[in-house]
Amino acid sequence: MENQTQNALERFVAKTRELFAKERDPEKRWTALSPILAELLADAEVIEASKAWPDCVPADGRAENLLFYEDPDYGFAVNGLTKGTARQGARARIHDHAHIYTLYGVLDGRERIEKYERLDDRSKPGYAKIRKSVDQMVGPGEIDLVRPYEVHTEVTVGERTVAVIIRSQKGGEFNQGRYVPERDEYYESLGPRQTPCEMLPKKAKPQEQNNNRVSL
Ligand SMILES: [Fe+2]
Repeated sequence: MENQTQNALERFVAKTRELFAKERDPEKRWTALSPILAELLADAEVIEASKAWPDCVPADGRAENLLFYEDPDYGFAVNGLTKGTARQGARARIHDHAHIYTLYGVLDGRERIEKYERLDDRSKPGYAKIRKSVDQMVGPGEIDLVRPYEVHTEVTVGERTVAVIIRSQKGGEFNQGRYVPERDEYYESLGPRQTPCEMLPKKAKPQEQNNNRVSL
């Protein structure tokens, strides 16, 4: 039952846990999760709060994600990814997410998503032949399902962009594939650093509100 005192993140987590409890097939699970993420992306409080989320800053060859939530039972993680004006013109490396499923939802701003197909049989170390198969503008509310080992990147188009990313497992602790199509190169490195962050501002408890009123 929906609890009106829950915030949008708490509602998302409750619905996701309910879905994961009844659906074990990963393909069905992650397809069914998309409309639940769509509700989170449409929430006015989340959109407003995202304007104050800190800019993610790549460092030491690693991207940065904001970490809003990690589920203790099912292991899924809720991330934020902000690309501020300083990042404009920079393109994220072409990569995959290794074995995990990911839903990439745009919350604010527009960007381009590129997807690639892998043409070789993965038998030659350090080698990958890829070809661009999708090049698409996406905007608020649009959700991209990234399956295990799918090759992709996002490209900024001169706007601050904010994404909410749901991963079947928190990133950063396992290697992900990296692709350099100019040289048909492939290598692996750790995924994004996880920076704990509040998705929504904490509401003051009624007791604290009363105290504030007295002190005024
Ligand atoms: Fe990605």
